[in-house]
Amino acid sequence: MKYEFENKKPEAFATSWEGQYEVFNWAEFLIGIPMPIFLITTYKENGLPNACLHSWSCFSGDGGGHFCIMSGIPLKYGHTIGNIIRDKEFCINFPNKDIWEKCRKTIENNAYEIDEITENGLTVEKAISINAPRIKECFLNLECALEWIKPLYEGSRYGVICGRTKHIAMDEEYFDENKKGRYGEGGYLINIHSPTNPITGESLSSKIGFVEYK
Ligand SMILES: Cc1cc2nc3c(=O)[nH]c(=O)nc-3n(C[C@H](O)[C@H](O)[C@H](O)COP(=O)(O)O)c2cc1C
Repeated sequence: MKYEFENKKPEAFATSWEGQYEVFNWAEFLIGIPMPIFLITTYKENGLPNACLHSWSCFSGDGGGHFCIMSGIPLKYGHTIGNIIRDKEFCINFPNKDIWEKCRKTIENNAYEIDEITENGLTVEKAISINAPRIKECFLNLECALEWIKPLYEGSRYGVICGRTKHIAMDEEYFDENKKGRYGEGGYLINIHSPTNPITGESLSSKIGFVEYK
């Protein structure tokens, strides 16, 4: 049987942390759509590298170009939005599981005065086509130029940022699924964000997942 959810949080959904359903819409926890994890890297105004773990995104394009669309960038706090508005360039870096803990640490080690890549045990690599740092240990780097920014809706805390891919750097081991490959436990990481049962209210903890190629 299919349940019909009107635009209302299920009663069984308890709040796990203060402000949870202001920061994320309840629907995110009901539908639990998995999304690829990456880090957006930029330079701060003081010239130090900034790293922002992100996930709410899609990637598409046509003959006119390839685009990265990120739909969950806070407009009023965090370093990333200001850096992108100022420099109009950013890099999207895809980690594998071996460096996940270092990537996760960028959430806590996030001060303005630090190089957030080096400080968290990763290495800054110079980009080819933009003025933004790349993360050397990431197997895929998409160097992007800002195409446009708009709020998710009028008054939203989040902005939608569209970047045009200008240059791609990819580790050759990932070209071939018989080598490391893009999928499986060595490839793309997926954000599984506390999927919640709307009947029992049971909420699973957030985890990373992998894509199985079958
Ligand atoms: C899988 C995942 C988990 C995240 N967890 C947190 C978190 O626990 N707390 C938080 O404030 N931001 C979290 N974020 C969001 C941003 O990574 C974080 O706010 C970021 O460090 C902001 O960077 P900035 O200030 O340099 O823009 C998470 C993002 C992803 C993709």
